[in-house]
This record gives sequence, structure tokens and C-alpha cells, in this order.
Amino acid sequence: MLFKQQAWLRQKLLVLGSLAVGSLLYLVTRVGSLDRLQPICPIEGRFGARGQAEFPLRALQFKRGLLHEFRKGNSSKEQVRLHDLVQQLPKAIIIGVRKGGTRALLEMLNLHPAVVKASQEIHFFDNDENYAKGIEWYRKKMPFSYPQQITIEKSPAYFITEEVPERIYKMNSSIKLLIIVREPTTRAISDYTQVLEGKERKNKTYYKFEKLAIDPNTCEVNTKYKAVRTSIYTKHLERWLKYFPIEQFHIVDGDRLITEPLPELQLVEKFLNLPPRISQYNLYFNATRGFYCLRFNIIFNKCLAGSKGRIHPEVDPSVITKLRKFFHPFNQKFYQITGRTLNWP
Ligand code: A3P
Repeated sequence: MLFKQQAWLRQKLLVLGSLAVGSLLYLVTRVGSLDRLQPICPIEGRFGARGQAEFPLRALQFKRGLLHEFRKGNSSKEQVRLHDLVQQLPKAIIIGVRKGGTRALLEMLNLHPAVVKASQEIHFFDNDENYAKGIEWYRKKMPFSYPQQITIEKSPAYFITEEVPERIYKMNSSIKLLIIVREPTTRAISDYTQVLEGKERKNKTYYKFEKLAIDPNTCEVNTKYKAVRTSIYTKHLERWLKYFPIEQFHIVDGDRLITEPLPELQLVEKFLNLPPRISQYNLYFNATRGFYCLRFNIIFNKCLAGSKGRIHPEVDPSVITKLRKFFHPFNQKFYQITGRTLNWP
């Protein structure tokens, strides 16, 4: 009996404790008391010569509280400083590469308080119909943010679509461009796996990877196969370099983002002139998923959807060897142009 009472008391205390912590967090995120909080770590100079003082901490901390509610339509005008929120054109775009880890990169960058992501792939520059709707249409697709924050969107089809570099250049010739790449053969298999899953969902049969990647007549690599062509990174990059200098690109190692995301993200923070605010706290390895997941704070965390991190089909090792040999010279050129050596086989 005594034991039961003690258990009851313990349970009540636990509930009361959770309520108290919950209320405190509620107040901290909803009320202006945020202004009195200290920054987690010192904020260094960013956004040009005028420096950090211009970047209101309040804007950073409100990002996932009020802005989130605003997007969901849950908050009143008093809570959200509506007049400060704007839909801004992106200052950086993740232009590709498909299956390189573009979603993981976008979501992880969004952990940074000064970054606001466009959740959907907008496909403005690669889709003629969308492009014809004009830049205002594009801007209105962007999330609300504070002027000091930067908007980032990702549409991996941009990297391989002929017209895109010129179109982006016309919008903003000094935009920052992020390309996340993976070892080309692995990326091609990942690409194939995604298409295969789509076919299976529709109860359709599909060719084996080997049959698509190798031309049965010549027994050489089939360069007409899109998954192979997309992995010839240097060919696509060369088209972009007709419009943008190499300094405007940053290459993210997608294989490393899987196993060791923080250093890759820190390089991106530097490239974007953002103060280093993403920390190991924001990233935790989820053994069940087999990937790093995201932690925004003590309450909110998330892993990427199951469509990210599919199990690849087994591929004939001789085909893998052939593909790796095929990609090798293109990779060397890619390292040379970008200045980033990735040690792919
Ligand atoms: P696989 O499905 O081949 O494993 P994209 O977002 O460009 O489509 O890229 C998908 C790839 O992102 C996945 O490819 C997966 O390996 C990779 N990825 C990188 N970090 C991840 C993470 N934290 N969670 C899930 N997938 C991640």
C-alpha cells in the first residue's frame, strides 16, 4: 500500500515537473523575454563589414517559435512581428546533385538560426512553365523570414538542366551555389534505386541496373543512361562556369555528410559567411535509421523520411569496377576545377 502511494506521489511529481518545464519553455519561446537571454556562443562578424551587431538575436531565437506558428497560422498579429517578416529571394541555392544528399543538407543547414529553408523543391529555373510565371511568383514561393536571415532553396534538377545557369545568373549574378556530390557510381545506383521504387509502386517491372548502365552492344558504359550522365559532374559544372566563377560554388562531400555531418556543415557555414552555430548537439546518430538525425532543441528532433537512405540493390562487382574506371578521369577534372579532392576510387 505504502509502495503504491509512493509510486502515485512520484508519478504526480513527475507530471507537475514536466508541466513546470513545459510552461517555462512556452514562456521562453512565446514572450519577449528572449531578448534577455544570452547567446549560446559568441556571434562573429558576418554579412559584410558592418558586422554582427546588426543581427538581432531575437530574430534568431524567434525563428522556430513564432515563425513556425506564423506559418501554421496559429498566432496572432501581436505575437508575430508581421511587419518584419518578408519573403526573400534565396541568397544561396542547393543546385544538386540529385541523390547526393540534397535534402539532408538543406534540413541540416536549416538548423542554423540565420537560415530559412524553402521546404518544397520549387523547380522555378528548370521548368519552363514555372519560369514563365516570373520572379515574383518565385519569391512568393519562399518562406517568411527576417531580413537578416537568408533563404535557401534546393532543386537538384537545376544542376543538369541546360537553361538554368543563365536564368539564375539573370536573377542574381552573385548568388552562392551549393553542390553536394557523392561517389559517382554510388550516386548512380541511388538514382536507379529511386526510379526502381517508383516503378515497383506502380506494379511495373524494370530493368536491372547492369542492363541500363552497360551498353549490351559495346559492353561499354552507357552514357545515354541518365543516371550515368548525371554523375559526370565535371561536364555539368563546366556549363555553370560559363556564368559563375568557381568561387561562387561550394562543393559538399555527400558521403562525408552521411558519416560525419558536422565538419561538412561547418565548411558551408564558412562559405555562407554565417557564424558557426550548428553544433554536435544538433546532430545525433540514430542507430535504427542508420543516419544522423536533427535536434533543434530539447523538444524537437527529427530524422529524414524513409525515402532517404534506401537499401540499394546488389550490383555486379564487374559493372561497378567498369563504372568507376569510366568516371575516374572526369573525377580528376572535377577535383582540379573545384579544388576539392574527394579520393573516390
Ligand atoms: P540513399 O537513399 O541512396 O541512401 P537526396 O536528398 O539528394 O535525394 O539524397 C538522398 C541521399 O541522402 C540518401 O541516399 C542518403 O544516403 C543521403 N543522406 C545523407 N544524409 C542523410 C541523413 N542524415 N538521413 C538520411 N539520408 C541521408
